[in-house]
Amino acid sequence: MAYDVIKPQATPGNTDWFMQDRFGLFIHWGLYALAARHEWVKSKEKIDTETYQKYFKYFDPDLYDPETWAKAAGDAGMKYFVVTTKHHEGFCLWDTKLTDYKATNTPAGKDLIKPMVEAFRKHNMKVGFYHSLLDWYHKDYTVDRHHPMRDNKEYIARDSERKLERYARYLHGQTRELLTQYGKIDIIWYDFSVAESENFAGKGKDVWQSEKLIKLIREIQPGIIINDRLQIDQDLKTPEQYMPREWIKVNGKPVVWEACQTFSGSWGYHRDEESWKSVDMLVKMLIDTVSKGGNLLLNVGPTGRGEIDARALERLKGIGEWMSRHNRSIYNCTQAPSEFKCPEDCRYTYNPGTNRLYLNVFSWPFKHIHLEGMADKVEYARLLNDASEVKMIKYKKDEALGHGYSQKGSIPNLLTLEIPVKKPDAAVPVIELYLK
Ligand code: GLC
Repeated sequence: MAYDVIKPQATPGNTDWFMQDRFGLFIHWGLYALAARHEWVKSKEKIDTETYQKYFKYFDPDLYDPETWAKAAGDAGMKYFVVTTKHHEGFCLWDTKLTDYKATNTPAGKDLIKPMVEAFRKHNMKVGFYHSLLDWYHKDYTVDRHHPMRDNKEYIARDSERKLERYARYLHGQTRELLTQYGKIDIIWYDFSVAESENFAGKGKDVWQSEKLIKLIREIQPGIIINDRLQIDQDLKTPEQYMPREWIKVNGKPVVWEACQTFSGSWGYHRDEESWKSVDMLVKMLIDTVSKGGNLLLNVGPTGRGEIDARALERLKGIGEWMSRHNRSIYNCTQAPSEFKCPEDCRYTYNPGTNRLYLNVFSWPFKHIHLEGMADKVEYARLLNDASEVKMIKYKKDEALGHGYSQKGSIPNLLTLEIPVKKPDAAVPVIELYLK
């Protein structure tokens, strides 16, 4: 018998595939890859557009081969990808007709999105477009707390000539291009609405004309998933650089959610950043996310030559090694029914379709894992890495356990798994429990 699981709030877009696939690749790529010190470099260092122009002039990703990117993502077990069509700097990776500030006019000389979409589709991955609402290049985009020119009085003085309505038209026009020129798009991922500050107004749904924009999107791509950063909640909540405690809720109700995380502390390529997460940690993050009913969107920042750098590739490979034997604990899985009490240092994930429960063991204990209330619920147990049986001990009352230790008065219905002393060779070993 399959157990009931949490069903998140229904939304206008199609999130069924999304909640089954669970794992995607985020790609942050733009001119900032050349600065190689964070995708916010223009804002952080308050660089004016004229100075920033050198990155446009020298943007020449001669080693760009999206086939290798798609393969690396596919081998890691990822099922979809989301790429920055335009980040806050305003530079566009595709051949937009609405600005000259695009890849086609750099030494790259072509639309970089088209071959990427084709390569990822070839590897059976769904397609998502990230699009920045912020734009530090556009002539009509006014200064706000994040703008590179926020301290430049002359620049700010000219804000009166800037027309945010014109910027909104540009935003809608670019959205239309992206959603009509590349076939079926599965996700559109906007980033983000700006809070007001002491000196500057914020920007939100009125500026972006979010309602109208959402209507346009749904007309062109009805089933598409839209995230939450247009300041109107749609299909997806997107916590970032943060592991939620529990299934994300809105107004007390569980919703579809996706955590986005980086390998290191930057989204764009950062040469000198050293806080790279280990494969073990990344695998645990993926499991932890799914155990709370969420997806993981894991980010790479390709270099200015157009490659995913070795540090990221090494981690993708490590995750792929784990996924090749353990993805059953990820795909089609969700938070386990609350009646299953998870033992310490472990996470449960549950597949309601197969009625199997996955015990993901974060810290390998000595010889026994005790599952309370489970003795009458589990039919068979095995390790996922090699399908080796895990012995199930169902103690009868007062039976001896170990030398001189009595189970007298022990917890009823306790199931004890007898595991090998040596931790299986896997980032996180998983025990597959076939439920009755
Ligand atoms: C933030 C940052 C940004 C990144 C995004 C990903 O909002 O502005 O650089 O693209 O998070 O979620």
